[in-house]
Amino acid sequence: MAYNLLKGKKGIIFGALDSNSIAWKVAEQAYEEGAVFTLSNTPTALRFGQLDELAAKCNAEIIAADATNVADLSNVFEKSMEVLGGKVDFVLHSIGMSLNVRKKRVYNDLDYNFLNKTLDISAISFHKMLQVAFKMDAINSWGSVVALSYIAAQRTLYGYNDMADAKSLLESIARSFGYIYGRERKIRVNTISQSPTMTTAGSGVKGMGGLMDFTERMSPLGNASSEECANYCITLFSDLSKKVTMQNLYHDGGFSNMGMSLRAMKMYNKSLGEDLDIE
Ligand SMILES: NC(=O)c1ccc[n+]([C@@H]2O[C@H](COP(=O)([O-])OP(=O)(O)OC[C@H]3O[C@@H](n4cnc5c(N)ncnc54)[C@H](O)[C@@H]3O)[C@@H](O)[C@H]2O)c1
Repeated sequence: MAYNLLKGKKGIIFGALDSNSIAWKVAEQAYEEGAVFTLSNTPTALRFGQLDELAAKCNAEIIAADATNVADLSNVFEKSMEVLGGKVDFVLHSIGMSLNVRKKRVYNDLDYNFLNKTLDISAISFHKMLQVAFKMDAINSWGSVVALSYIAAQRTLYGYNDMADAKSLLESIARSFGYIYGRERKIRVNTISQSPTMTTAGSGVKGMGGLMDFTERMSPLGNASSEECANYCITLFSDLSKKVTMQNLYHDGGFSNMGMSLRAMKMYNKSLGEDLDIE
C-alpha cells in the first residue's frame, strides 16, 4: 500500500543487481511512493544483472559507475541532477563485496590487496559518495542518505570475514559525515543494520542457510525481509524521520538485543540429544 511518502522527491539508488537485491525492492517502493530517481551500478553489473527491467518499470535512467571511482560518482550526481531537474533528496548506498570471501581466503589468511578492495568497495565508497555530493552541493536540505550494514560490525559472526571490518568502517563514516552534513546542510546520514537476507551478496556468506535459520529462531519478530528493509528505507527518506541522523538502526526483528531464545535453545538441545522440558 502506498502513502505518497516520497511524492516530489528525487533520489539516486546504488546497488540494484537483480530482483533479489535490497536496492531493487527500495527502487520499487520508492517508485510506488511517488519518487523519481536514477539507478546506478557497475558496468559489469549492468551487463550481467537485470537493471534494464527495473529501470523500465520505474521509469528511471541508469548511470553506470564503479562506486570506488570518484570521477564516476561525480558523473552520477551530475547526470542525476540533469535528468531529475535539480538536487536530490535521497541517496541509497546498497553496495558490498569481498574478494577474500569470494576466493575463500579466511580471516587469518587474508590477501591484503583483496582487503583494500573490500574496504574501498564496501565502505570507503560511501565516504566518496558523501564527499562528492557535499562538494557538488547535490543534496537538498532535509535530504537523507542511507547505507546498508550488518551486525558483524559489532559482534563476531563466523564466516563474515573482512566484511565485518568494512561494515564497522561504513557505520563510522555515517557518524563522522553525518555530523558535518547535519551541521552544515541539515542532511541526515544513517546506516540500517539488516537481518541476513538471501541475495547475491548474502548467499556469498559462509553457512548462510544455517545462519538465517539461527537468526530467525533468535529474533522475536523473525528475520526482516528485503521488502521490509525497503519499507524502512522509505521511512528514512521521507519527512517523517527528519531528526534521525548519525545512527546505526537495527532492522533485524530484535536479534541484536537477544542472547538466547526459546526457539534456538530447543533446537540446540535437540542437537545435543537432550530433550529438555522447556516452554
Ligand atoms: N544480504 C544480506 O544478508 C545483507 C544483510 C545486511 C546488509 N546487507 C548489505 O546490503 C547491501 C546490498 O546487498 P544485497 O544483499 O542486496 O546484495 P546484492 O548482491 O544484490 O547487492 C550488492 C551490490 O553491490 C554492487 N557493487 C559491487 N561492487 C561495486 C562497485 N565497485 N561499485 C558499485 N556497486 C558495486 C553489486 O553490483 C550489487 O548490485 C550490501 O551493502 C550488503 O552488505 C546485506
